[in-house]
Amino acid sequence: MYKRILDHLNGAILLFDRDLSLTYLNSAGEILLADSSRHLVGLSANEIFKSSDPALLLNLQQCLTMAEPLLDRELILDRMTHSITINFSATPLLKDEQVDEILVELQQVDNHLRISKEERLLTQQNTARMLVRGLAHEIKNPLGGLRGAAQLLDLELRDQDLKEYTRIIIAESDRLQGLMDKMLGPNKLPNKKAINIHEVLERVRQLVQAESNLTIKSDYDPSIPDIYADKDQLIQAILNIAKNAVQALNGEGDILIKTRIHRQVTIGRKRYKLAVKCDIIDNGPGIDADMMNQIFYPMITGRADGTGLGLSIAQALINQHNGLIECTSEPGNTVFSIFLPIISQGETDND
Ligand SMILES: Nc1ncnc2c1ncn2[C@@H]1O[C@H](COP(=O)(O)OP(=O)(O)OP(=O)(O)O)[C@@H](O)[C@H]1O
Ligand SMILES: [Mg+2]
Repeated sequence: MYKRILDHLNGAILLFDRDLSLTYLNSAGEILLADSSRHLVGLSANEIFKSSDPALLLNLQQCLTMAEPLLDRELILDRMTHSITINFSATPLLKDEQVDEILVELQQVDNHLRISKEERLLTQQNTARMLVRGLAHEIKNPLGGLRGAAQLLDLELRDQDLKEYTRIIIAESDRLQGLMDKMLGPNKLPNKKAINIHEVLERVRQLVQAESNLTIKSDYDPSIPDIYADKDQLIQAILNIAKNAVQALNGEGDILIKTRIHRQVTIGRKRYKLAVKCDIIDNGPGIDADMMNQIFYPMITGRADGTGLGLSIAQALINQHNGLIECTSEPGNTVFSIFLPIISQGETDND
């Protein structure tokens, strides 16, 4: 009787036992998790939520230990093909004053919530990038003067020992100049033409392979139509991501570049009929959870010799193409996904 009622509810209901194994889920739960109850019942919460937001599992554990109900909002739930945003609530069911079972309700949050979050993030990243650009611009001007003066002084000096100092000033100004140019990032508007995404990827593969002895595997969908884009800018963006993978692997591991076509994809606020999704996957150590939210900001680096500009520039370049870069990571599986809308030359991409 109760099962019938539960099966007719719109909300997804899951029941876990005290070992956090799933004992029941209603029909809405099957739909939300995109799997049958026959498959899922008996699995541990760990397995069911393995590639989803880690908060899901932590919340369940907390509900179990504290024996108190718990609410959490806007968590990412991973389903085989794509992820959705959900609100989560867990209620402990007590027996003899001990938690016997946990009742979980999952509710899909409107798509636009996720979009607004995406937009907010992009705006924040943009602001941070503008700040860095402004700073670089301010430093560049006096730096030129400094270098010029050191050069003049160098010509005047007779004493070779003293020249040593002017050379250091010149060399260090050059190094700083290089860094400032990198901080300024792409300064050209994209020169868009119809191109094949695989040409871009093959070029990146060549460039990476010339510098490392890793083999890069590919899994391309040859049916992807041409995209309308600036080839050099795409090479630059994807190279920045691929180089990070090479550095993370440190000579040992695999990189896979994968392309697929997706239909009805929302990027930012706009829905596109077709988009290409290009994944750059490595099986290196992965990115720490606390680092994860920041990697696309300029000057954020986890490497001693990194400048932290690679991903910020890549995101800027892909944004100029109305696209988006996303990342998911766990040890042994880091995926950077680049979404690019497929727009023909005649179509405007601004409306
Ligand atoms: N595939 C990856 N595996 C592990 N960590 C990564 C990966 N990609 C990026 N990261 C982390 O993200 C950080 C930021 O990357 P980003 O490319 O923006 O800067 P960087 O590589 O440190 O410096 P730069 O690219 O400017 O030389 C890296 O320092 C690294 O800690
Ligand atoms: Mg980098």
